Amino acid sequence: MTLKKTAPCSTSALFVILVTGITLSLTLDPRPASPQNLQLRAHSDTDGLALTPPMGWYPWNAFGEAPQTEKLIKEIVDALVMSGLKDAGYAYVGPDEGICFSRGPDGKLTSNLARYPSGLRGLGDYIHGKGLKYALYTDAGSKTCSTAMPGTKGYEFEDMRAFADWRADYIKIDWCNSEGQDIVKTYSLLGEAQRAAGRPVVHSLCSWGEGYPWKWAGAIGHMWRTTTDVCAPGQADWARAVRIAFANEKLAPFAGPGRWNDPDMMVVGMPGLSEAQGRSIFSFWCMMASPLIAGNDLRDMTRSTIDILTNLEAVAIDQDPLGAQGHVVWDDGDVSLWAGKPLFDGSRAALMFFHGKSKARLRIAWDEVGFAAADELYVRNLWTHETTGPHAGGVDVTVGGSDAAFLRISKTKDFPIPPILVADTYLVSLRAAGSRPEKLTGTVTITNKGSSDLPPWRVDPKSLPPWLSVAVTGGGKTQTFVNTVATAGLKKGAYHALVRADNVEPISGRPMSALYYDVDLEVVRNVMR
Ligand code: GLA
Repeated sequence: MTLKKTAPCSTSALFVILVTGITLSLTLDPRPASPQNLQLRAHSDTDGLALTPPMGWYPWNAFGEAPQTEKLIKEIVDALVMSGLKDAGYAYVGPDEGICFSRGPDGKLTSNLARYPSGLRGLGDYIHGKGLKYALYTDAGSKTCSTAMPGTKGYEFEDMRAFADWRADYIKIDWCNSEGQDIVKTYSLLGEAQRAAGRPVVHSLCSWGEGYPWKWAGAIGHMWRTTTDVCAPGQADWARAVRIAFANEKLAPFAGPGRWNDPDMMVVGMPGLSEAQGRSIFSFWCMMASPLIAGNDLRDMTRSTIDILTNLEAVAIDQDPLGAQGHVVWDDGDVSLWAGKPLFDGSRAALMFFHGKSKARLRIAWDEVGFAAADELYVRNLWTHETTGPHAGGVDVTVGGSDAAFLRISKTKDFPIPPILVADTYLVSLRAAGSRPEKLTGTVTITNKGSSDLPPWRVDPKSLPPWLSVAVTGGGKTQTFVNTVATAGLKKGAYHALVRADNVEPISGRPMSALYYDVDLEVVRNVMR
């Protein structure tokens, strides 16, 4: 069967309210659609975080609330490392609505030690020690959605301080039980509280599109949910995931480095989804520069689920330094063509989705995906990993039912992968036991799984406390931060520094997300000068 474009797509009833909201917001206030405007207001300008979409894992899709414990999260962390997901860039991980804290009589949050015996700080240290980043969850209202945990209402500053003490790197903030609260004021206050707590965090707003966060949340946080939940815990819902992709793609003008539309965690690898459907979901999410937060049980993955989630050529589209969100160019109900995603090396991504049952042979013309009609171009198939071409005018692709052809198209035969960073640890712990001055060192090694050698990472020495110095050794793909502590004159006590490092992606010249790690120093007795 051969298909070509006909009518624009129809939108499901479930999203009428959301889409009405989008239409309204675009009509009433077109200003935020201007990328320059958004650029000025991006919160990430100061913390340098999430300049490409955050990648990680969250428990809700697979588990819901009750099964979450420290043991489960640690098993998932280990599976994330062993399965190769860590090497593909997945980093943010932690309990979400996992009954992990409560509020004490003094108003302070305390870890639920029955479920998390190491406490939330101990769990954070475990995650950082594995070279991963710590994600936690709360709510902007009086209680979280399940009502099992307290929300931040009235305790914004105290709670963000507690999250900083637990060393969270990412905080998802839900919008349940928030009746009567002004959404912009509430999330702004939480952003202020995070800054006051002094630990930069990826701020993930979760109002499911309520309040049109794409219009304002880039000034407060780094990503915002655009729709309802992608599934109920335990079971993927293919039709709902597709509807969510088609609602989220309409918000493409609002996304860019440091500010992302979030269509929710992925359902790839969950029960209820075929392999082709998993491939399509992953292609949609990468094409939309969505946060790639896996939601399946990582302890129990088929080879094909691992291959989908760790397909670096697809991840490269998501993690492209230009940060453009692709969108639907045309849609005839059964077939849609997605483009509008220029990439850092001058190539472009295209996605052809076939919603029908059998196979379809389809044509992608170069002038539909951002090139000149007469161009002769190379095509990289991101699922079969084959390069063909040069093709004049366009290319024919064969797509199976519920499947997606995901392509990268270029004037040259090279298809470089942007930086995908992997750390051996994000925590350096040192102990000075004697009273004589000594020098102690601990290292953090960062490897780039992408194509380019990176310039040396830069650490501003003025940002470090007087007892710590950092030198970067090695070069290109693997660089090591050598942290040297000079203990002379230090008093007995615990010392802490959060080190920030910056870099630039060499092909595009774009700044890369800032990299942060913790240095702990325990001084057992007063040290002489
Ligand atoms: C909301 C969010 C979900 C999840 C649950 C937890 O429904 O949208 O992603 O965090 O709350 O209760």
